[in-house]
Amino acid sequence: MTTAINTKPAQVIEFDQDPTVVDRDPYQEDLATYDVANAYLFKADAQGPWFKRLRDEAPVHFCPDHLLGPYWSITRYEDIMAVDTNPEVFSSEPAITMRDPEEDFTLPMFIAMDPPKHDDQRKVVNSAVGPAGLKTFEPLIRERTADVLDKLPVGEEIDWVDNVSIELTTRMLATLFDFPYEDRRKLTRWSDVTTAIPGQGIIESEEQRREELVECLQYFTNLWNERVNAEPRNDFISMLAHGSATKEMQPLEFLGNLILLIVGGNDTTRNTMSASVFELDRHPGEYAKLLADPSLIPSMVSETIRFQTPLAHMRRTARVDTELRGQKIKAGDKVIMWYWSGNRDERFFDRPDEYIIDRDKVRSHLAFGFGIHRCMGNRLAELQLRVLWEEIMKRFDRIEVVGEPERSLSVFVRGFTALPVILHPKT
Ligand code: HEM
Repeated sequence: MTTAINTKPAQVIEFDQDPTVVDRDPYQEDLATYDVANAYLFKADAQGPWFKRLRDEAPVHFCPDHLLGPYWSITRYEDIMAVDTNPEVFSSEPAITMRDPEEDFTLPMFIAMDPPKHDDQRKVVNSAVGPAGLKTFEPLIRERTADVLDKLPVGEEIDWVDNVSIELTTRMLATLFDFPYEDRRKLTRWSDVTTAIPGQGIIESEEQRREELVECLQYFTNLWNERVNAEPRNDFISMLAHGSATKEMQPLEFLGNLILLIVGGNDTTRNTMSASVFELDRHPGEYAKLLADPSLIPSMVSETIRFQTPLAHMRRTARVDTELRGQKIKAGDKVIMWYWSGNRDERFFDRPDEYIIDRDKVRSHLAFGFGIHRCMGNRLAELQLRVLWEEIMKRFDRIEVVGEPERSLSVFVRGFTALPVILHPKT
């Protein structure tokens, strides 16, 4: 495989969202122009009342004017399920985020494909994170988690995001790809570059994004070329290079699927790791429950995933004219399933705005999606988080959050960029 592709972006969209949105009262806004897809709302964690109003007054809502084009918002649990489980009407093509692919730099990936191609490609890599794969991974995950935690300084301020969440998820990704271990932070960088808004700290321009992603492709192409001629193994690259539905992929499709596996396994789990520390610190009563009964760890993990919802939404595109709650959605319209809002829907969850680690129906959240695209790595993510907390509780009495966290500027990735903490060792 070779990597000859164009790196000059044809179309550049300026990020010009209004930061003062966080000072506005959603109940004073006109529903005709109401726009929840503003990254500043999510950065300030101020989206709550904006979505509550939509769930109550306009659960299937059309926003006519957004920098990435008009879109529908689906905000209730039941309606999100209906859309997510109906790929015949709501397609995952051409994209699962609000931004349409650029004509000369389309990255096909199976999350943004419909059957049958989606199903064939997913099958190629699925077994790496299936039950047998997870059994093999658990001891390794535990060993690496212990290693990271044992090296942390106690009693002084550290950034949990960089020292633990990023380090652990990057090590896991390096394992899944059998990626050169010493270069593993490149994976973090490519994940960040993929989801960054140009001019906001990580990359300066779309052109830079393309250049860095082409470097990513070049690096992985070398690994592919090594593995395609070797015996098939259980890492993602070898599986893609030998899989009948993936071995003929063109370079951009290889890059697309790499990006999917890198971002899918990185930002999401990373941000849940940070969220678990943040929420347990903010909710001492819930932390006391966990200390009294550590068998609640798996339930706490699921509640953290619901509460955080690390991917705030997925997009679908209507294939045909259709109707939902009396609203007429036209073929070609963008339909945004706001998982974050579905996970706060008071019609489905009891006291949805509260963090309750032993709540009923704790795994029924929407944060992994539903239907044929339901997160492929969901059991792996839960395993990583469970092991992390089992190892934390052996070592520390408390992880104290000592400053305000910094949150991501994004309507897609709901995450933390910094979380200052002090570790208190077990006495
Ligand atoms: C807490 C952690 C995670 C969250 C919240 C999460 C969330 C999601 C969501 C919302 C989807 C789309 C579902 C839909 O459209 O119905 C998805 C798909 C996917 N996730 Fe995850 N994810 C997580 C961890 C992981 C991990 C660790 C991997 C590891 C490889 C992974 C790989 C994928 C892949 C490959 C897909 C595409 C599945 C398909 O299209 O069939 N995810 N994830």
